[in-house]
Formats: sequence, C-alpha cells, structure tokens
Amino acid sequence: MKFFATTTKGLEEVLAGELSRLGAREVIPANGGVNFSGTLSDGYRACLWLRTANRVLHPIISFPCPSQEALYEGVYALNWHELMTPEMTLAVDANLRDSAMTHSRFAALKTKDAIVDKIRDLSGRRPNVDPKDPDLRINLHLVRNQCTISLDLAGTGLHRRGYRRDPTIAPLKETLAAGLVALTGWDQKTHFVDPMCGSGSLPLEAALLASNTAPGLLSPVFGFQRWPDFNASAWKELIEEAEQIQSTLTANLIFGSDRDQRAIELARRNAENAGIGAQIRWSYTDFTKLEPPADHGTLICNPPYGERIGEEAELEAFYRKIGDTFKQRWKGWTAWIFTGNLNLAKRVGLKASRRIVLYNGPIECRLLKYELY
Ligand SMILES: C[S@@+](CC[C@H](N)C(=O)[O-])C[C@H]1O[C@@H](n2cnc3c(N)ncnc32)[C@H](O)[C@@H]1O
Repeated sequence: MKFFATTTKGLEEVLAGELSRLGAREVIPANGGVNFSGTLSDGYRACLWLRTANRVLHPIISFPCPSQEALYEGVYALNWHELMTPEMTLAVDANLRDSAMTHSRFAALKTKDAIVDKIRDLSGRRPNVDPKDPDLRINLHLVRNQCTISLDLAGTGLHRRGYRRDPTIAPLKETLAAGLVALTGWDQKTHFVDPMCGSGSLPLEAALLASNTAPGLLSPVFGFQRWPDFNASAWKELIEEAEQIQSTLTANLIFGSDRDQRAIELARRNAENAGIGAQIRWSYTDFTKLEPPADHGTLICNPPYGERIGEEAELEAFYRKIGDTFKQRWKGWTAWIFTGNLNLAKRVGLKASRRIVLYNGPIECRLLKYELY
C-alpha cells in the first residue's frame, strides 16, 4: 500500500528518518511530506509512532481533473461501498493549488456529493456528513488539475497528542516541537533545557522521545479503528509492543523554565496529562537568572518574536540579552534559538554555526545553532 505522511515544511527529512527507523519501505521525501509504502499495519504503526507527521494519508486514486464534472465523475467511479457503509459518517478536506477549480469548500462539497450519491445508488441509503468526528475522513488534493483522493488514517491531526487540554497563547504545534527536538540532535543522555518553555511543548516532546513513548499511546483513538477493514488484532499487537518498549525517563535530565508562572503551571499540567509529570524539572525564573544544571548540554528556546505576542522594538534588547546570557552563563552548552524574526535573531550577536529554515504555519522561521565554547 502507498502512503503519504504530511509534515511542516522543513521537517521532511526528519520525518523520512522516522519512517525509515520504523521500517517503512520506499521512503521518499517530497514537498510538505514523505511518500512511503507498507502494509495497512505499517500505516497504523505510522499513526502510533510518528512524532513529526501531521497526517498519514493513503492515496486511493489519482486522475486528471480540469473541471467540477471531472471531479464528480472521478470520485463517483470509486467503489465507495467497499470503503464505508451507509451508516458511517464522512468528511472531506480539500487542498487546491494552480488548478481550474479554485474553491476548496466547493471542491470538498462536490467530492462529498459524489461519494454520497454512489453509496445511495448502490444501497438506497445515504451516509451522513460529520465534519468534526467522521468515521471516514477523505482528503482531496488538487494540484495543476491532477486530483488525488486519499483516506486519512488517523482522521485527526496527529499533533493532537491529548496532553494539551487548556487554551494557551502561542504554543508550538506538538509535531513542530518534536521536529525541533530531533533537529538539535540531542543525545538523550545529557541535560536538555528550555528556559522559555511556555506551555512546555519542547521539554514534553523531548521527554516523550527519551522515554521511547509512542505519541499515539497518549490518546490511542484513530479514524481507521472505525473502518470496515479494521484489523483489531494487528492494532492490539502494536499497542502492546509500544507499551512494552516504553521506558522510564532518567530524572533531572529535562528542564523547562519560564518567567511566567501561569505558563509553568500549564506546562506542569500538560506533563501530568502526558503521564511524564514527575520526570521533568520545572522552574519559574527569568532566563537571565537561570542557573545551568550542568557544564554542558542542549539548550533550546523559542523566544517571543513579535508576530503574535510582544512587539519587535521591545524585543530587540531582549534578544541582545539572550546572546549575553549565552556567553556569560552557558559556556560549554550547545544552544538553539527558534524564531520567526530574522532581524531579532541578528541581535543575539553570536555567530550561528547552523541555520535551518522551517515554517511555523505560514511564518518562515529559523532554527539557529550556537556553539558556546
Ligand atoms: C513563544 S512563547 C514559547 C512557547 C512555547 N515554545 C510553547 O510551545 O508553549 C515565549 C515564552 O518566552 C517566555 N519569556 C519571555 N521572556 C522571558 C524571560 N526573560 N525569561 C524567561 N521566559 C521568558 C514567555 O513567558 C513565553 O512563555
């Protein structure tokens, strides 16, 4: 079977690495995702284990689609009754680019109509739409008038690990946070510190990685479990295997700190929700006063960058202070800054030894590495 795992632009290679380690075949990175092949059980495994994928799609048909009629006919031609029963609910997501059809909602509606009509014509009954919690989520991808229809295995964004239950400002998406942790190349043995951790995404994803916790174990409810061909015994085996290889995290290895006490309370709650509350050390301190827990390790921070919270002018002095603090207090460490504002990044005043381009939603960002020797 063919699959396509989607990810944040810039994390394709990281995701390809994850897939190869999981044993996926024909792993080929593309723009915004990675193609791979395997069995249906490998698709389940991908949903359970991938840290940096947003969705796992299974393409079922691809056809030329220059018009709404072609879309309707192409979708109608599929044997939908083999994929869903009339009692199941469905939803269609659509992404369109450089095509004659330009309205994604309309394209999604046409696709839904074709599926519903086909099932009604075959069974006399119409399935219902449930945009929020469908039994079957279908993905329509239309690029340069070529349409690909896929089934969305998880049926929900894989970033929803289930540990974030309270609203928070400017959090990193869990999958992006996991990607940043992976890009630092942290060895999982030395200390890992996020001194501006906000809701704790980076320490939490580091902890899930270091404890070999499959992210899907945190809320193991996926769309494919409601499909007619769901292989319950294969899924049970995967869950049992993941539970067995989960390990206890070394205490005092991962630190999260922030100057905002409410952020730390939230981070603590998130860690408890994820079942790793006791193993992360949280503190409520201004970064400039934070004591390094050792003479070397990995520091990563995602300071405010003026897009959503705080204003750029005020932040210039803060970024300068980050650079000064790195030099004065964090000698021996490898530090990383993730920011969406390159102007501010320059104020750090240190030479970055690596610059990685990534996207946080639509915002072009950089992950910058500083060797503080
Ligand atoms: C963009 S948010 C980080 C979001 C975080 N990565 C997450 O996923 O939730 C920036 C954080 O930096 C913190 N911060 C700003 N100035 C700080 C300082 N001087 N010392 C420590 N934390 C600071 C803010 O309180 C805020 O939580």
